[in-house]
Amino acid sequence: MDKFFLVSLLGLLIAAHGVTGTLTCDNIAMLDELTNMDTEENEIELSDIPSWTSERGGKVLVNVDSFGAAGDGESDDTESFRKAWNVSCSTPNSVFLVPQGRRYLVNATKFAGPCKGTLIIQIDGTIIAPDEPKNWDSKLARVWLDFSKLEKAVFQGAGVIDGSGKKWWDASCKKNKSNPCKGAPTALTIDSSSGIKVKGLTIQHSQQIHFTISRCNSVRIYGVKVSSPDDSPNTDGIHISESTNVIIQDSKIGAGDDCISIVNASSNIKMKRLFCGPGHGISIGSLGKDNSTGIVTKVILDTAVLKDTTNGVRIKTWQGGSGYVRGVRFQNVKMENVSNPIIIDQFYCDSPTACQNQTSAVEIREIMYQNISGTTRSAKAIQFSCSDTVPCSSLVLSNVDLEKQDGTVETYCHSAQGFGYGVVHPSADCLNSSDKTLEDIAESIAVEVEEDTRHTEL
Ligand SMILES: *[C@@H]1O[C@H](CO)[C@@H](O)[C@H](O)[C@H]1NC(C)=O
Ligand SMILES: *[C@@H]1O[C@H](CO)[C@@H](O)[C@H](O)[C@H]1NC(C)=O
Ligand SMILES: *[C@@H]1O[C@H](CO)[C@@H](O)[C@H](O)[C@H]1NC(C)=O
Ligand SMILES: *[C@@H]1O[C@H](CO)[C@@H](O)[C@H](O)[C@H]1NC(C)=O
Ligand SMILES: *[C@@H]1O[C@H](CO)[C@@H](O)[C@H](O)[C@H]1NC(C)=O
Ligand SMILES: *[C@@H]1O[C@H](CO)[C@@H](O)[C@H](O)[C@H]1NC(C)=O
Ligand SMILES: *[C@@H]1O[C@H](CO)[C@@H](O)[C@H](O)[C@H]1NC(C)=O
Ligand SMILES: *[C@@H]1O[C@H](CO)[C@@H](O)[C@H](O)[C@H]1NC(C)=O
Ligand SMILES: *[C@@H]1O[C@H](CO)[C@@H](O)[C@H](O)[C@H]1NC(C)=O
Repeated sequence: MDKFFLVSLLGLLIAAHGVTGTLTCDNIAMLDELTNMDTEENEIELSDIPSWTSERGGKVLVNVDSFGAAGDGESDDTESFRKAWNVSCSTPNSVFLVPQGRRYLVNATKFAGPCKGTLIIQIDGTIIAPDEPKNWDSKLARVWLDFSKLEKAVFQGAGVIDGSGKKWWDASCKKNKSNPCKGAPTALTIDSSSGIKVKGLTIQHSQQIHFTISRCNSVRIYGVKVSSPDDSPNTDGIHISESTNVIIQDSKIGAGDDCISIVNASSNIKMKRLFCGPGHGISIGSLGKDNSTGIVTKVILDTAVLKDTTNGVRIKTWQGGSGYVRGVRFQNVKMENVSNPIIIDQFYCDSPTACQNQTSAVEIREIMYQNISGTTRSAKAIQFSCSDTVPCSSLVLSNVDLEKQDGTVETYCHSAQGFGYGVVHPSADCLNSSDKTLEDIAESIAVEVEEDTRHTEL
């Protein structure tokens, strides 16, 4: 019905407005594209065994316990995990098993492929990291459990991956300015892989980012839980970098930084039915740091609740970058007590020293916000802070309704072009519309069509 509504709207728009004004045509084409944009949802063909215990048929079980793992939470089980991995990876149709009810202490480790056939990594127990940053292997400074070069693999189970991050957080310069600013490990990394499913795991108390997907194609994540306190520094939930065709769904993320962050060279990213909070929201970026190029295209967030977060849906870029963010749709989002529900920040500066404004910037265009409602903690419920030299363009808002518990709300625009139709509260009038009339017509027609639809339903 939504699609029907928009198609009718576009038809009426063309009929009422003609096809002469080039800007109007562009806007209609862009709207059409954004409305019909869909990311690929090709089901990854993997045998979906619910658990290794039921119908194990043909699977070879490689249990870390058989390689001497103690699972007492204190003995160093790293070597057992490495040995079990080697066997599992070189055995077709094997299940790398971390059994339930036990705690395995494991150091930073690279679990590298390619492996033989489809591999199942069944985590039912708890894997914990050693908690002392001083003893961390300096050659693996940024990773803890690092999986790479896998082709068709399933990570699943009711288990927990626990980064024991407390001492890392205390050592962060974000917590104490006299600490040096250096990166900490990511708890779970899946790198340079394809055909990956991740299902049901809990990742918590990570040293820094909880779960990174880098240089991957075709990844589906569902029923995952991420959990860390809201004051744990830089503990992003799920971080996507240089990856394509990624779906994250039915997951609950609470952390000290972005629930999800999508950075450079990523496209076709779909997120649906998510809960985010606490945290910094769902972000594209940051992009363009140190004059780098950042490109992110085709991102859809559909159906999410963000609660007690500092941002809602955010795009953040540094001054001096290049590249672009293009083709993004945020829809059906409920905000509860969110500081900046809708925000584009092209002056992002997450650095101990102040950032200078520059002429170059990552270009932001064709961003749609549809059916976003709820409560904001700050008055600036909608904020578009775009680059002076590279303005944001084709920002579209429709059916946005944000309220502040006590007080009025407003939209802030700086160098931002676009338009709103349907209900948009606070109003999007500050957007530098390329065609004011289009906006007016869109609004009147939106009402008409809505009434029409109600008629036919009666
Ligand atoms: C695992 O295999 C790699 C590559 O064949 C080898 O270098 C390494 O020593 C093996 N590790 C263990 C613990 O067997
Ligand atoms: C794990 O890390 C500890 C602390 O750095 C170290 O003593 C131990 O040898 C490591 N274990 C393995 C198997 O590398
Ligand atoms: C910050 O770190 C310094 C140096 O490590 C330490 O002396 C100080 O007590 C720390 N401050 C807080 C508030 O933890
Ligand atoms: C962005 O991604 C491209 C393509 O993968 C890569 O070559 C480039 O190094 C990346 N840039 C940054 C800043 O990471
Ligand atoms: C980025 O480019 C600007 C302008 O050319 C230059 O002043 C600045 O030093 C560059 N920054 C970095 C980190 O390379
Ligand atoms: C709103 O969020 C803030 C920050 O997380 C929290 O301190 C406050 O209690 C929340 N307010 C309500 C009404 O839930
Ligand atoms: C708008 O979004 C809310 C929150 O996700 C959802 O419950 C509702 O069904 C959506 N409305 C429409 C018309 O899709
Ligand atoms: C950068 O530009 C923005 C927008 O024009 C302005 O508000 C801000 O003060 C500038 N920052 C610096 C450091 O010049
Ligand atoms: C806004 O639109 C007006 C009229 O088209 C134009 O003169 C002005 O430069 C635009 N401002 C920005 C910041 O894009």
